[in-house]
Amino acid sequence: MEPIKVGLLGFGTVGSGTFDVLCRNQQEISRRAGRGIEITRIAVRNRAKAEQRLGDALRTVELTADFASVVNDPSLDIVAEMIGGTDIARELVLCAIKNGKHVVTANKALLAVHGTEIFEAADAHGVIVAFEAAVAGGIPIIKVLREGLTANRIQYIAGIINGTTNFILSEMRERGLDFETALANAQQLGYAEADPTFDIEGIDAAHKATIMAAIAFGIPVQFESAYIEGITHLDILDIYYAEELGYRIKLLGIVRRTKKGIELRVHPTLIPAQRLIANVQGAMNAVLVYGDAVGATLYYGTGAGAEPTASAVVADLVDVTRLNAVHPNNRVPHLAFQPDLLVNTPIIPINDIISSYYLRLRVAGQIGVLADITRILATLCISIDVLLQKKSEAVDANQEGEIDIIVITHKTLEKNINTVISHIEALSTVRSRVTRLRMEALN
Ligand code: HSE
Repeated sequence: MEPIKVGLLGFGTVGSGTFDVLCRNQQEISRRAGRGIEITRIAVRNRAKAEQRLGDALRTVELTADFASVVNDPSLDIVAEMIGGTDIARELVLCAIKNGKHVVTANKALLAVHGTEIFEAADAHGVIVAFEAAVAGGIPIIKVLREGLTANRIQYIAGIINGTTNFILSEMRERGLDFETALANAQQLGYAEADPTFDIEGIDAAHKATIMAAIAFGIPVQFESAYIEGITHLDILDIYYAEELGYRIKLLGIVRRTKKGIELRVHPTLIPAQRLIANVQGAMNAVLVYGDAVGATLYYGTGAGAEPTASAVVADLVDVTRLNAVHPNNRVPHLAFQPDLLVNTPIIPINDIISSYYLRLRVAGQIGVLADITRILATLCISIDVLLQKKSEAVDANQEGEIDIIVITHKTLEKNINTVISHIEALSTVRSRVTRLRMEALN
């Protein structure tokens, strides 16, 4: 059988990694796919760089600067979108779909924001949009959620799904660095982008959590409903205090089924230090999935980089090659559930979630301060799990006698904890804002 023909849009880290893996493992891949998979055209902005990167392989592909010509090329069966962003990528992907081409993409932002439109278009045109590489790079988490765990009612997912921030948090904890220095190290080592906003503000993780929530619960992708808090305001002090209390702070993407609706949130989270996922260090990713039948399962691996991401892209190319001849109704649905059976379960506003909390504040070392704080918590029926008091390191004479109070609460409504914080901050003995971090037991 003729090889299936692929056009690449973009030849950066992921595009070139995909090309390399496909060439290197060509024989094994065709034995698995049942036919060859060939990249025959690549659209690039920087032709000279691509020529240099391709070397001898340049003989086998045609380079073009005209991206539209690739999505309109009748000789191509699959378009692999590797350019990122949500504007041009959206136009090109929709155009490829309308031309009857299957699409493989690593673009989580595109799917988290425009997924509904893209999947509807794909269903209408009987083509596949495959996106394993969009979440957690080389970890096949989409396949797991969509197929491997299909027997389960998925209860929750908690994932370290951004390597850059996990690297920064690891550096802060292990080497005592502040956020800025750890970020600069991440940039120097090539983990963080020159503009790291999407990573450190939690947006990248929220794109991925949005996609996982849709597949886990059969709801439309709805990035706009995700609660997002990054790690830019995290103080090294909280990492130390958390450690002392037996916790690690991780930026988690959390999706959870509750009686009131679905939680979809990304924020720094205290998790017990003995959990496996708490020990995922550096730029690695890990995703914990809890299904009602299987219980807890954990997936660990590299979430970014040329070949780990290419591993997922090529797996999608093989899947599409195998399913190309299958009637669209007999393929695995894009979001795991049949498209006409998606449900609009509401995403719970962050104020209505239930969590336990870590609170830290600095107070004057006076009689009655603790009593005031515990009274405020009691008024809102919030039970204290742990209370720690530490003499703060006085910076000058005026600050002598100040202490840090750390409170860990039992579970309560987020809106109640916010009320508590505003009452505590109004006390004349309180000398700082209250730092509030959510906690997850993950048990
Ligand atoms: N920037 C992402 C991360 C990798 O740091 O994990 C691509 O999703």
